[in-house]
Amino acid sequence: MPKPNVYVTRMLPKPAIDLLKEHFHVEINPKNRVLTRDELLKNVQGRDAVVSLLTDIIDEEVLTAAGQKCKIFANYAVGYNNIDVAAATESGILVSNTPGVLTDTTADLAWALLFATARQVVAADKFMRLGQYLGWDPLLFLGQDITGKTLGILGSGRIGTATAKKSIGFDMKVLYHDIKPNPDFEMAVPGSQFVNKETLLKQSDFVSIHVPLLEATKHLISDREFKLMKKTAILINTARGPIVDEKALVRALKDGEIWGAGLDVTEYEPDFESELAEFDNVVILPHIASASIETRTMMGLMAARNVIAALNDELPPNCLNPGVLNHQR
Ligand SMILES: NC(=O)c1ccc[n+]([C@@H]2O[C@H](COP(=O)([O-])OP(=O)(O)OC[C@H]3O[C@@H](n4cnc5c(N)ncnc54)[C@H](O)[C@@H]3O)[C@@H](O)[C@H]2O)c1
Repeated sequence: MPKPNVYVTRMLPKPAIDLLKEHFHVEINPKNRVLTRDELLKNVQGRDAVVSLLTDIIDEEVLTAAGQKCKIFANYAVGYNNIDVAAATESGILVSNTPGVLTDTTADLAWALLFATARQVVAADKFMRLGQYLGWDPLLFLGQDITGKTLGILGSGRIGTATAKKSIGFDMKVLYHDIKPNPDFEMAVPGSQFVNKETLLKQSDFVSIHVPLLEATKHLISDREFKLMKKTAILINTARGPIVDEKALVRALKDGEIWGAGLDVTEYEPDFESELAEFDNVVILPHIASASIETRTMMGLMAARNVIAALNDELPPNCLNPGVLNHQR
């Protein structure tokens, strides 16, 4: 019997590909870029499983193109706003993600952005490289203190909790907001307080976003929210770009409504509002929050294990629509 046929939409760390190849015939997008829509539609056809990325829009059309034989779309990300899970369920296709293994790596990057933005590390480094440093200057690159300040966490799940925990060494007050209070968060971060979104925005020196991208969270931070924030506040976004209204962010920075922003994600990736690049108090990264060698390897192995389970008619460990399995059996 021929081995099941698995398609991977972009090259992943080698251990993940090796694991898939132990079990399946594996084909990988040979190009070092995101597949075009046409390429995606063509390449999912006739596969038993697909490993997809957050840059692949997996909607009804793609699921239909994949066809009846396909058992799973294993997403190489914890966020799955790129996949129409309801349509996949309707089509009898399992969907999985990679939760947990990237939690600390993403939280670490939220802190890297917080430090870099508060102390203008990137602009100061550029200044040195350009040979502009002429000697110690009392007014050069004055930033914002971090120790003892208030950290506001929007979304108290895995990454929000890990980000908040790391503030303990900086003697920070932690406020958080979620759809409901989270006792696990409060246990992990002693002294933290659940507040409504408005209070969090008004009182925080640093606002760090950790909610998923949903209809309800698109433009969660827009003009009204920037007006509530402190003029000295810094916004950190390592979640998804469209959660922040980027045009409103530019306005808020221009009008001095907030002090700075650290962004791992932008509204229209890979594009971003070009004016953001003009601010020394803005740090923008190319969506690298989970990009450590260890974590990207673990994410790949996790996606591969989800595929292996699905193609053995078992429940994938990180399945988002387990009910589908009953129909596949
Ligand atoms: N930049 C990156 O590379 C990167 C890496 C990992 C995760 N992420 C993003 O981070 C997100 C969070 O990941 P996680 O593992 O912590 O997820 P999680 O599910 O553990 O936590 C999300 C939290 O947000 C809360 N939430 C949902 N809707 C909300 C709303 N309207 N208002 C307030 N809170 C709300 C949920 O109740 C939950 O507590 C992912 O969905 C993903 O999009 C980005």
